[in-house]
Amino acid sequence: MEFHDVLKTRRSIRGFKPDPVSQELLDRVFEAVRIAPSACNLQPWKFLVLRTPEPKALVYEVYNRGAWLREAPMIVVALGNRKTAWKRLDGTSAHVIDVSIAMEHLVLAAANEGLGTCWICAFDQAQLHHKLGLSSEWDVVAMTPLGYPDGEVRPFSRKALAEIVEYR
Ligand SMILES: Cc1cc2nc3c(=O)[nH]c(=O)nc-3n(C[C@H](O)[C@H](O)[C@H](O)COP(=O)(O)O)c2cc1C
Repeated sequence: MEFHDVLKTRRSIRGFKPDPVSQELLDRVFEAVRIAPSACNLQPWKFLVLRTPEPKALVYEVYNRGAWLREAPMIVVALGNRKTAWKRLDGTSAHVIDVSIAMEHLVLAAANEGLGTCWICAFDQAQLHHKLGLSSEWDVVAMTPLGYPDGEVRPFSRKALAEIVEYR
């Protein structure tokens, strides 16, 4: 797809077909993740692809706002490493920024392949961290279902350019 078409057609998908996604296609999506930029190129991330019933069920326990999540053949959980990430001048870790950029690479690459995603952050991160048995330096940043879209998307709405861009 042309780059701007990817940007314009990508939407949060909250309905999925059960169809499996080929490994070749997944590899292309994760290659887009792999090449994402990060502060000092430290790449403080890891992506868990949950595609078997047991680990997926752990996610349903922390996010029960949508039955649609259960339809997706996969859920990708994006983790950021607080210890290995670059620290900003005030000492705070850049891992959430880094992981968010890589996650959006995933989202856009998936859209380019005809796959649907939906950023999910409205869950208890500490609870999921515990359920997944992660070590302390890893933070759960976000997750997304991944699969072939099904059903309607919500109406599109955005602020006007004049509201969000200020030239000085
Ligand atoms: C950081 C972030 C967190 C989000 N968390 C959730 C969520 O927990 N559940 C959900 O259904 N959508 C979530 N969304 C999706 C937004 O609601 C959606 O991107 C927004 O309404 C714009 O719609 P669009 O993505 O279809 O263009 C999240 C999006 C972002 C960027």
